[in-house]
Amino acid sequence: QQTAPFDYVIFGATGDLTMRKLLPALYNQLRIGHVPEEARIIGTARSSLSREDYITRAREALETFLPAQHRDEALIERFLKKIHYVTLDGTKSDHNWDELKAVLDQSPADRIRVFYYSTAPQLFEAISENLHRFGFITPHSRVVLEKPIGTDSASARAINDGVSRFFEEGQIFRIDHYLGKETVQDIIALRFANPLFSAVWSAEHIQSIQITAAETVGVEGRAAYYDTSGALRDMIQNHLLQVLSLCAMEAPADLEADTVRDAKVNVLKALRPIPEDKVASETVRAQYVKGDMNGKPVPGYLEELGEDSHTETYAVMRAYVDTPRWKDVPFYIRTAKRSTKKVSEVVVTFRKSASALFGTSAATNRLVIRLQPDEGFGLALNIKNPSAAGFELQHGTMSGKFAPADGSLIPDSYERLMLDAVRGYPALFIRRDEVEAAWAWVEPTLKTWAANKVPMAHYAAGSYGPEEARRFIATTGDAWHEDM
Ligand code: BG6
Repeated sequence: QQTAPFDYVIFGATGDLTMRKLLPALYNQLRIGHVPEEARIIGTARSSLSREDYITRAREALETFLPAQHRDEALIERFLKKIHYVTLDGTKSDHNWDELKAVLDQSPADRIRVFYYSTAPQLFEAISENLHRFGFITPHSRVVLEKPIGTDSASARAINDGVSRFFEEGQIFRIDHYLGKETVQDIIALRFANPLFSAVWSAEHIQSIQITAAETVGVEGRAAYYDTSGALRDMIQNHLLQVLSLCAMEAPADLEADTVRDAKVNVLKALRPIPEDKVASETVRAQYVKGDMNGKPVPGYLEELGEDSHTETYAVMRAYVDTPRWKDVPFYIRTAKRSTKKVSEVVVTFRKSASALFGTSAATNRLVIRLQPDEGFGLALNIKNPSAAGFELQHGTMSGKFAPADGSLIPDSYERLMLDAVRGYPALFIRRDEVEAAWAWVEPTLKTWAANKVPMAHYAAGSYGPEEARRFIATTGDAWHEDM
């Protein structure tokens, strides 16, 4: 499974994502033998650093962010030898391109080159233009685009148009790191490899689906970015709509990239529009106020930000997929910062049994797909209560873990994605039409919220969310998983 030799050129190489995710991901892939010895990592950023300075930062990052059982001093040193650093402002044509050229020219001309844009998306076009101007884009090159791809349909189109002036669509790899999560791919396995589920995966048997990504963290040091984004843009437009697409898509004929992406985009295009006059009834937005987390007082969002803001840190949307399979089944999409606990999960609630044998005592079957943490699944069933005098039911749960059987850790999402880009395998990356369809669906909500036409609810940091969200889900006869 080792890839061909590659040069990974990272723009934004001093940033948080590179340090926290990208370098540890490449290290881990080297550790398990997927990265060939000739591979190189070329970090670029505007900060004027020597190679030694950069390697010191990279070493610190690995020591901080690698799980203890993966840290190996000798291997870290071997990994660091692969790293080069070029001080470069990728948007300026009169900058240090000669130095980058000198480094790249050390490799054979047919070496796979991956340009990873871990920068603000407004810079993508200018960087691409310079890469083109200096002849760095070869037939063996690909480009990886980090999110966010825009802040609405128009800006997403502009970014996509800008990059496509210089790269073919087949060379463009748009990251959604949720697709790289092994457990998100388990949705495909559970649905399509088990007749037990595929036979009942439709409106006839499913009452509703909840998709949640809740985090305990607030906005940390990212307030400047987050305040221009908000929960809907940060999590729902990309990650959670991708999860929804996997839950709702028709069975693809095969697992080829475009077959799966066609199936997903069909879901996004079939989402029932939420026109501006329905936004108030079909969504909830909220901000956290000061509260308590594990016994410690934490400030509210506005206090952290230090100014007034109408940016949501919590968002819920009710979606309907207008295909025959999903006739009127609500999908509840929810995300929160500063929630009680970190949990990403899909909860499938099945319809109640029509059997008259047990009257109303039979509970609904429920499948919980736990994406993180405690990765695994649980299926709530009705079984007989053995100690009751008559025939009574009680709850039973069938459960399993997604973790590898050998006790090793589930790989981080960036590990697979970074090497899939080297391999030129785009199945777990988002195609342009998916990005644009997702923006089209969320846009009326974004506009209505921006115009403050929907009240901002509030929740205490460390709580599950606002009371409004409870009332909201009850209007379609459901309750949040943690309230059941
Ligand atoms: C990122 C968001 O895309 O996903 C962050 O910008 C969020 O705000 C993160 O914290 C969540 O990712 P994960 O993998 O921890 O669920």
